[in-house]
Amino acid sequence: MSAPSNSISVIFVQPDGSRESYRGVLGDHVMDVAVDNGVPGIIGQCGGGCTCCTCHVWVDPQWQERAKSAQGDEQELLSYALGVNERSRLACQIRLTQELDGLVVEVPGQGD
Ligand code: FES
Repeated sequence: MSAPSNSISVIFVQPDGSRESYRGVLGDHVMDVAVDNGVPGIIGQCGGGCTCCTCHVWVDPQWQERAKSAQGDEQELLSYALGVNERSRLACQIRLTQELDGLVVEVPGQGD
């Protein structure tokens, strides 16, 4: 059975290399998909308010262009995150679009 067209898949890669794939609804954010499915390492403490950094992910290099880079408040907040690099995004600021169906993000490990 094919998934409804407003369902977007996101793949989460854990520090040990394990991958989990979940589907979210178009217009939701990557953080919502993670929290709804209990993905370890993505807490989303501020509920998507761009104030906590507990939804930090690294976008897979192949998806960087489509997912765009952090801007403004997101970029500033990320400067406080551990293990920040040029692929860092806050998952609550990545909105699911058709273009992002199949998006791969890595969850930073503890202490990264
Ligand atoms: S959930 Fe708090 S910054 Fe993303």
